[in-house]
Amino acid sequence: MIQTRYEVVRRREIAPKTVHLAVRAPEIARKYRPGQFVIVRTHEHGERVPLSLAGSDMEEGLIYLLVQAVGKTSGEIHDLAVGDAFLDVVGPLGRPTPIAEYGTCVLIGGGFGVGALQPIATALRDAGNRVIAILGARQRSLVLLEEETRALCDEVYVTTDDGSHGRKGIVTDVLREIIERAPVHFVMAVGPMLMMKAVSELTRPHRIRTLVSLNTIMVDGTGMCGSCRVVVGGQTRFACVHGPDFDGHLVDFEAIRQRNAMYLAEEREALERRRAEMEESCQVAALAGQTATARQSSTPKES
Ligand SMILES: Cc1cc2nc3c(=O)[nH]c(=O)nc-3n(C[C@H](O)[C@H](O)[C@H](O)COP(=O)(O)OP(=O)(O)OC[C@H]3O[C@@H](n4cnc5c(N)ncnc54)[C@H](O)[C@@H]3O)c2cc1C
Ligand code: FES
Repeated sequence: MIQTRYEVVRRREIAPKTVHLAVRAPEIARKYRPGQFVIVRTHEHGERVPLSLAGSDMEEGLIYLLVQAVGKTSGEIHDLAVGDAFLDVVGPLGRPTPIAEYGTCVLIGGGFGVGALQPIATALRDAGNRVIAILGARQRSLVLLEEETRALCDEVYVTTDDGSHGRKGIVTDVLREIIERAPVHFVMAVGPMLMMKAVSELTRPHRIRTLVSLNTIMVDGTGMCGSCRVVVGGQTRFACVHGPDFDGHLVDFEAIRQRNAMYLAEEREALERRRAEMEESCQVAALAGQTATARQSSTPKES
């Protein structure tokens, strides 16, 4: 049976412009593996955007999404209320993260990447690994899912750029110390491209297996449109079907940065349009409120 209504069942604002959503999607909840993602659309004229699966509840038939509003469509998703629904949710897409008994694993999350790390941490723990997490953010209010991560991992470190929570600094400062202290067998980074690049550069000389989850521009998610093209080990790969996880030591990060920058003007334009639409609807609502108040005050009171 084709599901036609992907209802938001729970919604939690966990940081500024950041929501954790539980969405009814029993088929996806049943099939998905850690590391996979979905492509969602909120309405008929909406853009398709990829979102990592941040976990699921098979019994309740729910998938979890952690969404940061950075532009037009993610802003629309952020604004969905409980009871609203996505028009479509396609997935699970991409290859699952390879889970094995590696030994000591260090998972590094920044921004929405912390969501994807939740099911990966669970799977690695279940496979018998020692799991250490490092969560990085600019400031305290932007540290995501810290408590939830602590419940899943053996050790958790937090870094903030301004030192307002955890340790002042960046995730690679902590990773360097962990590597110097004891053997690390597997590293996975999910977050901003610059962070994933820095993590890969740090682990390269130590020859530690390092995976990064590439958040390139995606459109169809099926390997047909080519928009998620990346170069890995000198070969062209499509992040949606060959990834999103790749060997960080082989990824050409500079080529990705250049491709992602190609759409900056269009993205800015779309965001400005949405802001203008929202302002207009607020003005209409305010005007409607004023008219209603004026009507009430001009209506003679019953005696
Ligand atoms: C595999 C994968 C998993 C992702 N998981 C999450 C997640 O769990 N939570 C989350 O908040 N975000 C996630 N993203 C990023 C999310 O898809 C973008 O933030 C979203 O598409 C932005 O759209 P927009 O219209 O709001 O912003 P825009 O103004 O259009 O763009 C803002 C930024 O988002 C990126 N972006 C824009 N369009 C796309 C697109 N079609 N595909 C990918 N990136 C795009 C660009 O880097 C751009 O600079 C993921 C991306 C990928 C590829
Ligand atoms: S999103 Fe179209 S080929 Fe990957």
